[in-house]
Amino acid sequence: MAGTTYPAVRTELPGPRSRQLLERLDRVLISSLTDHDEVPFVEARKSDWVIDDVDGNTFADHVSAWGTTQLGATPRAVLRAVAEAQARYGMEITDYIPNEPELELAELLVRIAPPGLSRVAVGVSGTLVVEGGVKLAREATGRPMILTFYGQYHGEGTYLTAGVSTDLAEVTTQHAQYVAGLVFTPYPNAFRAPFHRGAAGPFDDAMYLDYLEDWVLVHQVEPEQIAGVLIEPVLGEGGVLIPSPPFWARLQGLCRRWGWKLILDEVQTGMGRCGRMFAAERYAIEPDIMLLGKGFAGGGAPIGAILGTEEVMGSSDLHLGGTFAWTPAAAAGAIASIEGLLADDGAALANARAIEAAAHEELDPLVERFEQVGDVRASGALIGIEFVRDRASLDPAPAFHRAVHLQALRRGVLGITQWGKWVYRLQPALTMPLDLFRWSCARIAEAVEEVAASPPPEPPSLLERGAPVEGGARRR
Ligand SMILES: Cc1ncc(COP(=O)(O)O)c(C=O)c1O
Repeated sequence: MAGTTYPAVRTELPGPRSRQLLERLDRVLISSLTDHDEVPFVEARKSDWVIDDVDGNTFADHVSAWGTTQLGATPRAVLRAVAEAQARYGMEITDYIPNEPELELAELLVRIAPPGLSRVAVGVSGTLVVEGGVKLAREATGRPMILTFYGQYHGEGTYLTAGVSTDLAEVTTQHAQYVAGLVFTPYPNAFRAPFHRGAAGPFDDAMYLDYLEDWVLVHQVEPEQIAGVLIEPVLGEGGVLIPSPPFWARLQGLCRRWGWKLILDEVQTGMGRCGRMFAAERYAIEPDIMLLGKGFAGGGAPIGAILGTEEVMGSSDLHLGGTFAWTPAAAAGAIASIEGLLADDGAALANARAIEAAAHEELDPLVERFEQVGDVRASGALIGIEFVRDRASLDPAPAFHRAVHLQALRRGVLGITQWGKWVYRLQPALTMPLDLFRWSCARIAEAVEEVAASPPPEPPSLLERGAPVEGGARRR
Protein backbone atom coordinates (compact mmCIF):
# COMPACT_ATOMS: atom_id res chain seq x y z
CA MET A 1 0.00 0.00 0.00
CA ALA A 2 2.74 2.42 -1.04
CA GLY A 3 1.89 6.00 -0.21
CA THR A 4 -1.14 5.00 1.81
CA THR A 5 -2.11 6.92 4.88
CA TYR A 6 -2.75 4.50 7.70
CA PRO A 7 -5.78 4.94 9.94
CA ALA A 8 -5.41 7.42 12.78
CA VAL A 9 -7.40 8.47 15.83
CA ARG A 10 -7.11 12.19 16.48
CA THR A 11 -9.68 12.82 19.21
CA GLU A 12 -10.62 11.17 22.44
CA LEU A 13 -13.22 8.44 21.86
CA PRO A 14 -16.00 9.17 21.43
CA GLY A 15 -15.12 12.48 19.81
CA PRO A 16 -17.38 15.49 20.51
CA ARG A 17 -19.72 15.02 17.52
CA SER A 18 -20.00 11.26 18.10
CA ARG A 19 -20.76 11.86 21.77
CA GLN A 20 -23.71 14.13 20.89
CA LEU A 21 -25.10 11.69 18.35
CA LEU A 22 -24.70 8.69 20.65
CA GLU A 23 -26.64 10.45 23.37
CA ARG A 24 -29.51 11.05 20.94
CA LEU A 25 -29.28 7.48 19.67
CA ASP A 26 -29.57 6.11 23.19
CA ARG A 27 -32.81 7.97 23.73
CA VAL A 28 -34.56 6.07 20.92
CA LEU A 29 -32.76 2.89 19.95
CA ILE A 30 -31.94 -0.24 21.84
CA SER A 31 -28.77 -1.97 20.79
CA SER A 32 -28.04 -5.61 21.35
CA LEU A 33 -24.53 -6.19 20.03
CA THR A 34 -22.42 -3.66 21.87
CA ASP A 35 -22.56 -0.75 24.21
CA HIS A 36 -21.12 2.50 22.96
CA ASP A 37 -18.08 2.16 25.15
CA GLU A 38 -17.11 -0.82 22.99
CA VAL A 39 -17.62 1.00 19.69
CA PRO A 40 -17.34 4.62 20.83
CA PHE A 41 -17.93 6.51 17.62
CA VAL A 42 -20.54 7.21 14.96
CA GLU A 43 -19.65 6.23 11.43
CA ALA A 44 -19.58 8.91 8.75
CA ARG A 45 -18.57 6.75 5.76
CA LYS A 46 -16.67 3.65 4.72
CA SER A 47 -14.54 2.81 1.76
CA ASP A 48 -12.90 -0.52 1.09
CA TRP A 49 -11.28 -1.30 4.46
CA VAL A 50 -11.32 2.04 6.26
CA ILE A 51 -14.09 3.50 8.42
CA ASP A 52 -14.30 7.28 8.98
CA ASP A 53 -16.13 8.59 12.01
CA VAL A 54 -17.96 11.90 12.29
CA ASP A 55 -15.03 13.44 14.17
CA GLY A 56 -12.45 12.76 11.48
CA ASN A 57 -10.96 9.62 13.03
CA THR A 58 -10.25 6.63 10.81
CA PHE A 59 -10.13 2.92 11.66
CA ALA A 60 -8.95 -0.19 9.83
CA ASP A 61 -12.14 -2.19 9.37
CA HIS A 62 -11.77 -5.74 10.70
CA VAL A 63 -15.53 -6.09 11.17
CA SER A 64 -16.62 -5.89 7.53
CA ALA A 65 -20.26 -5.43 8.49
CA TRP A 66 -19.92 -8.57 10.65
CA GLY A 67 -18.20 -10.59 8.01
CA THR A 68 -20.35 -9.68 5.03
CA THR A 69 -18.31 -7.36 2.80
CA GLN A 70 -15.86 -9.82 1.31
CA LEU A 71 -14.62 -7.49 -1.44
CA GLY A 72 -14.36 -4.36 0.71
CA ALA A 73 -16.98 -2.04 2.14
CA THR A 74 -17.99 -0.44 -1.12
CA PRO A 75 -17.49 -2.97 -3.92
CA ARG A 76 -18.16 -0.89 -7.05
CA ALA A 77 -19.31 -3.71 -9.35
CA VAL A 78 -21.71 -5.10 -6.72
CA LEU A 79 -23.20 -1.70 -5.90
CA ARG A 80 -23.60 -0.91 -9.59
CA ALA A 81 -25.37 -4.24 -10.23
CA VAL A 82 -27.72 -3.64 -7.28
CA ALA A 83 -28.55 -0.10 -8.42
CA GLU A 84 -29.20 -1.15 -12.01
CA ALA A 85 -31.48 -4.03 -11.07
CA GLN A 86 -33.28 -1.88 -8.51
CA ALA A 87 -33.92 0.78 -11.15
CA ARG A 88 -35.16 -1.83 -13.63
CA TYR A 89 -37.34 -4.03 -11.40
CA GLY A 90 -37.91 -1.98 -8.24
CA MET A 91 -39.01 -4.18 -5.36
CA GLU A 92 -40.25 -7.58 -6.41
CA ILE A 93 -41.50 -10.76 -4.78
CA THR A 94 -39.37 -13.26 -6.57
CA ASP A 95 -41.17 -16.30 -5.19
CA TYR A 96 -44.30 -15.15 -7.02
CA ILE A 97 -42.97 -13.42 -10.13
CA PRO A 98 -39.87 -15.12 -11.55
CA ASN A 99 -37.11 -12.96 -12.99
CA GLU A 100 -33.79 -13.43 -14.73
CA PRO A 101 -31.43 -12.37 -11.91
CA GLU A 102 -33.05 -15.08 -9.79
CA LEU A 103 -32.50 -17.76 -12.42
CA GLU A 104 -28.94 -16.66 -13.19
CA LEU A 105 -27.97 -16.65 -9.52
CA ALA A 106 -29.50 -20.07 -8.83
CA GLU A 107 -27.64 -21.59 -11.80
CA LEU A 108 -24.40 -19.92 -10.78
CA LEU A 109 -24.73 -21.21 -7.21
CA VAL A 110 -25.24 -24.78 -8.37
CA ARG A 111 -22.16 -24.46 -10.61
CA ILE A 112 -19.87 -23.39 -7.77
CA ALA A 113 -21.45 -25.45 -4.97
CA PRO A 114 -19.91 -28.60 -3.49
CA PRO A 115 -20.81 -31.70 -5.55
CA GLY A 116 -24.33 -33.03 -5.16
CA LEU A 117 -25.99 -29.73 -4.23
CA SER A 118 -28.26 -29.19 -7.20
CA ARG A 119 -31.25 -27.38 -5.71
CA VAL A 120 -31.67 -23.87 -4.33
CA ALA A 121 -34.25 -22.16 -2.15
CA VAL A 122 -34.33 -18.40 -1.72
CA GLY A 123 -33.78 -16.68 1.62
CA VAL A 124 -33.44 -13.26 3.21
CA SER A 125 -31.02 -13.69 6.09
CA GLY A 126 -28.89 -16.22 7.92
CA THR A 127 -31.50 -16.72 10.61
CA LEU A 128 -34.21 -17.63 8.14
CA VAL A 129 -32.16 -19.99 6.00
CA VAL A 130 -31.12 -21.89 9.13
CA GLU A 131 -34.77 -22.31 10.03
CA GLY A 132 -35.44 -23.46 6.46
CA GLY A 133 -32.56 -25.95 6.51
CA VAL A 134 -33.89 -27.52 9.69
CA LYS A 135 -37.37 -27.79 8.20
CA LEU A 136 -35.99 -29.45 5.07
CA ALA A 137 -34.08 -32.07 7.07
CA ARG A 138 -37.23 -32.89 9.01
CA GLU A 139 -39.33 -33.06 5.88
CA ALA A 140 -36.82 -35.30 4.08
CA THR A 141 -36.50 -37.78 6.94
CA GLY A 142 -39.84 -37.52 8.71
CA ARG A 143 -37.87 -37.39 11.97
CA PRO A 144 -38.20 -34.78 14.71
CA MET A 145 -34.79 -34.13 16.29
CA ILE A 146 -31.86 -31.92 15.30
CA LEU A 147 -28.43 -32.64 16.69
CA THR A 148 -26.41 -29.49 17.23
CA PHE A 149 -23.34 -28.23 19.08
CA TYR A 150 -22.65 -26.05 22.10
CA GLY A 151 -21.20 -22.71 21.18
CA GLN A 152 -22.78 -22.33 17.76
CA TYR A 153 -24.73 -19.31 16.63
CA HIS A 154 -27.55 -19.46 14.12
CA GLY A 155 -29.27 -16.12 14.44
CA GLU A 156 -32.09 -14.53 16.31
CA GLY A 157 -35.14 -16.58 15.38
CA THR A 158 -37.07 -17.67 18.41
CA TYR A 159 -36.63 -21.32 17.62
CA LEU A 160 -32.94 -21.30 16.93
CA THR A 161 -32.04 -18.80 19.58
CA ALA A 162 -32.36 -21.94 21.63
CA GLY A 163 -29.58 -23.29 19.49
CA VAL A 164 -27.38 -20.28 20.13
CA SER A 165 -25.57 -21.28 23.27
CA THR A 166 -22.59 -19.24 22.02
CA ASP A 167 -22.34 -18.58 25.70
CA LEU A 168 -25.69 -19.01 27.31
CA ALA A 169 -24.87 -16.72 30.20
CA GLU A 170 -23.68 -14.01 27.88
CA VAL A 171 -26.01 -14.00 24.91
CA THR A 172 -29.31 -14.92 26.35
CA THR A 173 -29.17 -13.74 29.94
CA GLN A 174 -32.58 -14.36 31.43
CA HIS A 175 -34.04 -14.86 27.98
CA ALA A 176 -32.93 -18.34 26.97
CA GLN A 177 -35.48 -20.03 24.74
CA TYR A 178 -36.00 -23.62 25.73
CA VAL A 179 -37.68 -25.50 22.92
CA ALA A 180 -38.12 -29.15 22.14
CA GLY A 181 -36.43 -30.88 19.26
CA LEU A 182 -32.77 -29.94 19.76
CA VAL A 183 -30.06 -32.17 21.19
CA PHE A 184 -26.69 -30.65 22.02
CA THR A 185 -23.22 -32.07 22.14
CA PRO A 186 -19.95 -30.11 22.55
CA TYR A 187 -18.28 -28.55 19.51
CA PRO A 188 -14.67 -29.76 19.09
CA ASN A 189 -12.33 -27.43 20.93
CA ALA A 190 -8.68 -28.39 20.93
CA PHE A 191 -7.71 -25.51 23.21
CA ARG A 192 -10.24 -25.96 25.97
CA ALA A 193 -11.14 -29.63 25.73
CA PRO A 194 -13.46 -31.11 28.32
CA PHE A 195 -12.30 -34.60 27.34
CA HIS A 196 -8.92 -36.27 27.74
CA ARG A 197 -7.87 -39.82 27.06
CA GLY A 198 -6.75 -41.33 30.36
CA ALA A 199 -5.90 -39.11 33.31
CA ALA A 200 -4.07 -36.39 31.40
CA GLY A 201 -3.79 -38.05 28.04
CA PRO A 202 -3.61 -36.36 24.68
CA PHE A 203 -6.57 -34.58 23.19
CA ASP A 204 -8.16 -35.41 19.91
CA ASP A 205 -11.36 -34.31 18.26
CA ALA A 206 -12.61 -37.86 17.91
CA MET A 207 -13.38 -37.89 21.64
CA TYR A 208 -16.25 -35.53 20.97
CA LEU A 209 -17.83 -38.18 18.80
CA ASP A 210 -17.03 -40.91 21.35
CA TYR A 211 -19.05 -38.82 23.78
CA LEU A 212 -21.83 -38.42 21.24
CA GLU A 213 -21.98 -42.14 20.52
CA ASP A 214 -21.39 -43.46 24.04
CA TRP A 215 -23.51 -40.99 25.97
CA VAL A 216 -25.82 -38.79 23.93
CA LEU A 217 -27.07 -41.54 21.60
CA VAL A 218 -27.41 -43.94 24.50
CA HIS A 219 -28.97 -41.74 27.14
CA GLN A 220 -30.58 -38.81 25.43
CA VAL A 221 -31.87 -39.55 21.95
CA GLU A 222 -32.19 -42.54 19.68
CA PRO A 223 -30.20 -42.08 16.50
CA GLU A 224 -33.25 -43.02 14.43
CA GLN A 225 -35.04 -39.96 15.80
CA ILE A 226 -32.44 -37.54 14.47
CA ALA A 227 -33.30 -35.78 11.20
CA GLY A 228 -30.17 -33.73 10.77
CA VAL A 229 -26.93 -32.45 12.22
CA LEU A 230 -26.72 -28.66 12.25
CA ILE A 231 -23.10 -27.55 12.37
CA GLU A 232 -20.82 -24.66 11.48
CA PRO A 233 -17.72 -25.81 9.55
CA VAL A 234 -15.66 -23.40 11.62
CA LEU A 235 -17.22 -22.05 14.78
CA GLY A 236 -17.56 -18.32 14.12
CA GLU A 237 -19.28 -16.35 16.86
CA GLY A 238 -18.30 -19.08 19.30
CA GLY A 239 -14.61 -18.25 18.95
CA VAL A 240 -13.07 -19.47 15.66
CA LEU A 241 -12.69 -23.18 16.40
CA ILE A 242 -11.50 -25.38 13.54
CA PRO A 243 -12.32 -29.10 13.81
CA SER A 244 -9.81 -31.60 12.45
CA PRO A 245 -10.30 -33.60 9.22
CA PRO A 246 -10.81 -36.89 11.16
CA PHE A 247 -13.69 -35.27 13.02
CA TRP A 248 -15.45 -34.51 9.75
CA ALA A 249 -14.77 -37.93 8.31
CA ARG A 250 -16.20 -39.63 11.34
CA LEU A 251 -19.19 -37.29 11.68
CA GLN A 252 -20.07 -37.94 8.05
CA GLY A 253 -19.74 -41.66 8.66
CA LEU A 254 -22.30 -41.31 11.45
CA CYS A 255 -24.59 -39.31 9.14
CA ARG A 256 -24.46 -42.07 6.55
CA ARG A 257 -24.94 -44.81 9.10
CA TRP A 258 -27.99 -43.25 10.73
CA GLY A 259 -29.49 -41.39 7.78
CA TRP A 260 -28.87 -37.95 9.32
CA LYS A 261 -28.85 -35.01 6.92
CA LEU A 262 -25.75 -32.87 7.31
CA ILE A 263 -26.89 -29.23 7.51
CA LEU A 264 -23.82 -27.08 7.08
CA ASP A 265 -24.24 -23.51 8.28
CA GLU A 266 -21.88 -21.59 5.99
CA VAL A 267 -23.52 -18.25 6.72
CA GLN A 268 -20.31 -16.95 8.26
CA THR A 269 -17.70 -19.22 6.66
CA GLY A 270 -18.97 -19.25 3.08
CA MET A 271 -18.15 -17.03 0.11
CA GLY A 272 -14.43 -17.14 0.56
CA ARG A 273 -14.20 -16.20 4.21
CA CYS A 274 -12.15 -19.31 5.02
CA GLY A 275 -9.90 -19.01 1.98
CA ARG A 276 -11.96 -21.21 -0.35
CA MET A 277 -15.35 -20.41 -1.81
CA PHE A 278 -16.91 -22.64 0.87
CA ALA A 279 -15.35 -24.03 4.04
CA ALA A 280 -16.86 -27.35 2.91
CA GLU A 281 -14.27 -27.46 0.11
CA ARG A 282 -11.40 -26.68 2.40
CA TYR A 283 -12.30 -29.26 5.02
CA ALA A 284 -13.66 -31.95 2.67
CA ILE A 285 -17.22 -31.81 3.99
CA GLU A 286 -20.09 -33.08 1.86
CA PRO A 287 -23.27 -31.46 3.12
CA ASP A 288 -26.81 -32.50 2.25
CA ILE A 289 -27.98 -28.97 2.95
CA MET A 290 -25.82 -25.84 2.88
CA LEU A 291 -26.84 -22.43 4.20
CA LEU A 292 -25.61 -19.08 2.91
CA GLY A 293 -26.05 -15.51 4.14
CA LYS A 294 -23.78 -12.64 5.13
CA GLY A 295 -20.99 -12.59 2.50
CA PHE A 296 -23.38 -14.05 -0.06
CA ALA A 297 -24.78 -10.51 -0.29
CA GLY A 298 -21.26 -9.36 -1.08
CA GLY A 299 -21.89 -5.93 0.37
CA GLY A 300 -24.94 -5.39 -1.84
CA ALA A 301 -28.45 -6.01 -0.52
CA PRO A 302 -29.60 -8.60 2.07
CA ILE A 303 -29.97 -12.14 0.73
CA GLY A 304 -29.59 -15.74 1.86
CA ALA A 305 -29.83 -19.15 0.23
CA ILE A 306 -30.38 -22.80 1.00
CA LEU A 307 -28.68 -25.34 -1.22
CA GLY A 308 -29.52 -29.02 -1.07
CA THR A 309 -29.28 -32.35 -2.77
CA GLU A 310 -31.92 -33.61 -5.15
CA GLU A 311 -32.90 -36.14 -2.53
CA VAL A 312 -33.54 -33.54 0.18
CA MET A 313 -34.97 -30.70 -1.88
CA GLY A 314 -36.02 -32.15 -5.23
CA SER A 315 -39.61 -32.77 -4.22
CA SER A 316 -39.89 -30.50 -1.19
CA ASP A 317 -43.30 -29.21 -0.41
CA LEU A 318 -42.20 -26.58 2.07
CA HIS A 319 -42.80 -22.89 1.97
CA LEU A 320 -39.38 -21.26 2.27
CA GLY A 321 -38.22 -17.74 1.55
CA GLY A 322 -40.30 -14.66 2.35
CA THR A 323 -41.41 -11.32 0.94
CA PHE A 324 -37.93 -9.83 0.63
CA ALA A 325 -36.14 -13.04 -0.40
CA TRP A 326 -34.05 -12.63 -3.54
CA THR A 327 -35.25 -9.30 -4.77
CA PRO A 328 -33.81 -8.88 -8.27
CA ALA A 329 -31.46 -6.20 -6.92
CA ALA A 330 -30.11 -8.47 -4.17
CA ALA A 331 -29.72 -11.34 -6.62
CA ALA A 332 -27.87 -9.12 -9.10
CA GLY A 333 -25.55 -7.97 -6.32
CA ALA A 334 -24.84 -11.55 -5.24
CA ILE A 335 -23.98 -12.50 -8.83
CA ALA A 336 -21.56 -9.58 -9.13
CA SER A 337 -19.99 -10.48 -5.82
CA ILE A 338 -19.45 -14.12 -6.78
CA GLU A 339 -17.93 -12.96 -10.06
CA GLY A 340 -15.63 -10.71 -8.04
CA LEU A 341 -14.57 -13.62 -5.84
CA LEU A 342 -13.83 -15.78 -8.89
CA ALA A 343 -12.04 -13.02 -10.84
CA ASP A 344 -8.32 -13.27 -11.59
CA ASP A 345 -8.24 -16.96 -10.73
CA GLY A 346 -9.73 -16.37 -7.32
CA ALA A 347 -7.27 -13.64 -6.27
CA ALA A 348 -9.55 -12.54 -3.41
CA LEU A 349 -9.61 -16.08 -2.00
CA ALA A 350 -5.84 -16.34 -2.37
CA ASN A 351 -5.50 -13.07 -0.46
CA ALA A 352 -7.70 -14.48 2.32
CA ARG A 353 -5.27 -17.41 2.59
CA ALA A 354 -2.36 -14.97 2.66
CA ILE A 355 -4.12 -13.08 5.47
CA GLU A 356 -4.36 -16.36 7.39
CA ALA A 357 -0.61 -16.93 7.02
CA ALA A 358 0.16 -13.33 7.99
CA ALA A 359 -2.08 -13.63 11.05
CA HIS A 360 -0.06 -16.58 12.27
CA GLU A 361 3.25 -14.89 11.51
CA GLU A 362 2.31 -11.69 13.28
CA LEU A 363 0.17 -12.95 16.14
CA ASP A 364 1.48 -16.41 17.10
CA PRO A 365 4.57 -14.90 18.78
CA LEU A 366 2.21 -13.16 21.23
CA VAL A 367 1.38 -16.56 22.75
CA GLU A 368 5.02 -16.92 23.83
CA ARG A 369 5.38 -13.31 24.93
CA PHE A 370 2.24 -12.90 27.00
CA GLU A 371 0.66 -15.50 29.19
CA GLN A 372 -2.75 -13.91 28.65
CA VAL A 373 -2.64 -14.71 24.94
CA GLY A 374 -3.79 -18.31 25.03
CA ASP A 375 -4.23 -19.18 21.39
CA VAL A 376 -4.33 -17.72 17.89
CA ARG A 377 -6.59 -19.41 15.33
CA ALA A 378 -7.25 -18.54 11.74
CA SER A 379 -9.15 -19.95 8.80
CA GLY A 380 -8.67 -17.58 5.89
CA ALA A 381 -9.79 -14.12 6.93
CA LEU A 382 -11.61 -15.43 10.02
CA ILE A 383 -9.20 -14.92 12.89
CA GLY A 384 -9.53 -15.31 16.64
CA ILE A 385 -7.22 -14.48 19.53
CA GLU A 386 -8.23 -16.23 22.75
CA PHE A 387 -7.35 -14.46 26.00
CA VAL A 388 -6.83 -16.33 29.27
CA ARG A 389 -6.01 -15.31 32.81
CA ASP A 390 -2.87 -17.40 32.93
CA ARG A 391 -1.24 -20.38 31.28
CA ALA A 392 -1.86 -22.74 34.15
CA SER A 393 -5.64 -22.33 34.47
CA LEU A 394 -6.50 -21.19 30.93
CA ASP A 395 -9.49 -19.49 32.57
CA PRO A 396 -11.19 -17.06 30.18
CA ALA A 397 -10.16 -13.40 30.43
CA PRO A 398 -13.03 -11.30 29.07
CA ALA A 399 -11.85 -8.09 30.79
CA PHE A 400 -8.35 -8.45 29.29
CA HIS A 401 -9.92 -9.06 25.89
CA ARG A 402 -12.07 -5.98 26.13
CA ALA A 403 -9.15 -3.81 27.25
CA VAL A 404 -7.08 -5.01 24.28
CA HIS A 405 -9.96 -4.19 21.95
CA LEU A 406 -10.17 -0.65 23.34
CA GLN A 407 -6.42 -0.10 23.16
CA ALA A 408 -6.37 -1.37 19.57
CA LEU A 409 -9.25 0.96 18.76
CA ARG A 410 -7.30 3.95 20.09
CA ARG A 411 -4.57 2.96 17.66
CA GLY A 412 -7.02 2.85 14.73
CA VAL A 413 -7.95 -0.86 14.58
CA LEU A 414 -11.56 -1.96 14.93
CA GLY A 415 -12.01 -5.67 15.57
CA ILE A 416 -14.99 -7.69 16.81
CA THR A 417 -15.65 -7.87 20.51
CA GLN A 418 -18.61 -8.46 22.76
CA TRP A 419 -18.58 -8.01 26.48
CA GLY A 420 -18.28 -11.33 28.24
CA LYS A 421 -16.50 -13.06 25.39
CA TRP A 422 -12.77 -13.67 25.48
CA VAL A 423 -11.97 -14.40 21.85
CA TYR A 424 -11.16 -11.22 19.91
CA ARG A 425 -12.03 -11.62 16.24
CA LEU A 426 -10.79 -10.06 13.04
CA GLN A 427 -12.82 -10.45 9.87
CA PRO A 428 -11.31 -8.07 7.34
CA ALA A 429 -12.37 -7.89 3.72
CA LEU A 430 -10.80 -10.84 1.90
CA THR A 431 -9.10 -8.23 -0.24
CA MET A 432 -7.56 -6.15 2.55
CA PRO A 433 -3.99 -5.32 1.49
CA LEU A 434 -1.51 -7.43 3.43
CA ASP A 435 0.48 -4.47 4.65
CA LEU A 436 -2.62 -2.91 6.24
CA PHE A 437 -3.41 -6.27 7.81
CA ARG A 438 0.13 -6.57 9.20
CA TRP A 439 0.04 -2.95 10.38
CA SER A 440 -3.19 -3.78 12.26
CA CYS A 441 -1.59 -6.84 13.89
CA ALA A 442 1.30 -4.67 15.06
CA ARG A 443 -1.18 -2.26 16.70
CA ILE A 444 -2.91 -5.21 18.36
CA ALA A 445 0.45 -6.43 19.67
CA GLU A 446 1.09 -2.97 21.16
CA ALA A 447 -2.37 -3.06 22.71
CA VAL A 448 -1.69 -6.45 24.31
CA GLU A 449 1.64 -5.18 25.66
CA GLU A 450 -0.01 -2.15 27.20
CA VAL A 451 -2.82 -4.15 28.83
CA ALA A 452 -0.45 -6.89 30.04
CA ALA A 453 1.58 -4.26 31.90
CA SER A 454 -1.39 -3.80 34.21
CA PRO A 455 -4.09 -6.42 33.58
CA PRO A 456 -7.65 -5.48 34.60
CA PRO A 457 -9.47 -7.54 37.24
CA GLU A 458 -11.55 -10.32 35.71
CA PRO A 459 -15.17 -11.04 36.62
CA PRO A 460 -15.56 -14.03 38.93
CA SER A 461 -17.00 -16.66 36.61
CA LEU A 462 -19.20 -17.14 33.59
CA LEU A 463 -22.26 -18.07 35.52
CA GLU A 464 -21.94 -15.30 38.06
CA ARG A 465 -21.55 -12.82 35.25
CA GLY A 466 -24.71 -14.09 33.68
CA ALA A 467 -26.73 -13.77 36.86
CA PRO A 468 -29.57 -11.28 36.93
CA VAL A 469 -28.50 -7.72 37.59
CA GLU A 470 -30.53 -4.92 39.02
CA GLY A 471 -32.51 -2.94 36.49
CA GLY A 472 -32.29 -5.18 33.46
CA ALA A 473 -30.47 -7.80 31.53
CA ARG A 474 -27.16 -6.07 30.80
CA ARG A 475 -24.32 -7.71 32.60
CA ARG A 476 -21.59 -5.42 33.85
C1 LIG B 1 -23.08 -19.20 11.47
C2 LIG B 1 -24.21 -18.21 11.46
N1 LIG B 1 -25.45 -18.62 11.14
C3 LIG B 1 -26.48 -17.76 11.11
C4 LIG B 1 -26.32 -16.43 11.43
C5 LIG B 1 -27.48 -15.50 11.40
O1 LIG B 1 -27.41 -14.67 10.31
P1 LIG B 1 -28.30 -13.32 10.23
O2 LIG B 1 -27.70 -12.39 11.24
O3 LIG B 1 -28.14 -12.85 8.82
O4 LIG B 1 -29.70 -13.68 10.54
C6 LIG B 1 -25.04 -15.96 11.77
C7 LIG B 1 -24.84 -14.55 12.12
O5 LIG B 1 -23.84 -14.16 12.67
C8 LIG B 1 -23.96 -16.87 11.79
O6 LIG B 1 -22.73 -16.49 12.13
